[in-house]
Amino acid sequence: MKIAKMNPNAIRMKYGDDYTADERTFMMGIDQRFASALAERFRGRRVLETCTGAGFTTIALARVASRVITVEIDRSHQAQAKKNLQRAGLLNSVEFVSGSILDQSLLTGLPPFDAAFLDPDWAITGPDHVYRFIHSNTQPPADTLLKTMLERTENVAIVLPPLLDIRELTGLPQNERQKLYLGESHELYCLYFGKLAAGACETVYRVPV
Ligand SMILES: C[S@@+](CC[C@H](N)C(=O)[O-])C[C@H]1O[C@@H](n2cnc3c(N)ncnc32)[C@H](O)[C@@H]1O
Repeated sequence: MKIAKMNPNAIRMKYGDDYTADERTFMMGIDQRFASALAERFRGRRVLETCTGAGFTTIALARVASRVITVEIDRSHQAQAKKNLQRAGLLNSVEFVSGSILDQSLLTGLPPFDAAFLDPDWAITGPDHVYRFIHSNTQPPADTLLKTMLERTENVAIVLPPLLDIRELTGLPQNERQKLYLGESHELYCLYFGKLAAGACETVYRVPV
């Protein structure tokens, strides 16, 4: 597959350095201004991240967590992430795992962790794409992923897209629902569970632009 070259200025603006990304990993990665705020909740923790992408949230987590294990199904994404962690000087702080996070044997073979950061692939798949949480059409399915991880640790954060109908989140265990803004633009939700949450509440994180 031909990988389109990304504009280095765009990469620097969004991620803070001359990292490697293709069109897809560029689009799906989390802006450094959000990534560092999300990662802060994991300070000092042993965190399982899924999914790695090109490693932009992995970099932020590796700067504050005591241990980072990150799982990715796509080898080319993982190769980009390794390059990016190397560039950030953090390659040795991260354990990379290849495969599906929903594979039971992979899950049981993971080193111990006490928190999980979930960023499934919400990329738009076509003009009729509908963002769904229940019976989620993401890769991996966000609802199944969240349930699977909450069975392993109460301390979970999951990133969700702003276009989601939040009524679909009714019935989840107690959580903090955070809205993340760039200026006036609502870019993401993040749900925090367990000790990562400030309580059962709604909060706002805003990056001034
Ligand atoms: C939204 S991206 C992660 C972006 C990353 N957090 C960042 O900021 O750069 C989602 C990733 O999930 C990966 N993925 C999809 N299904 C997966 C699965 N079952 N197990 C592990 N990774 C998976 C995709 O290949 C993609 O790289």
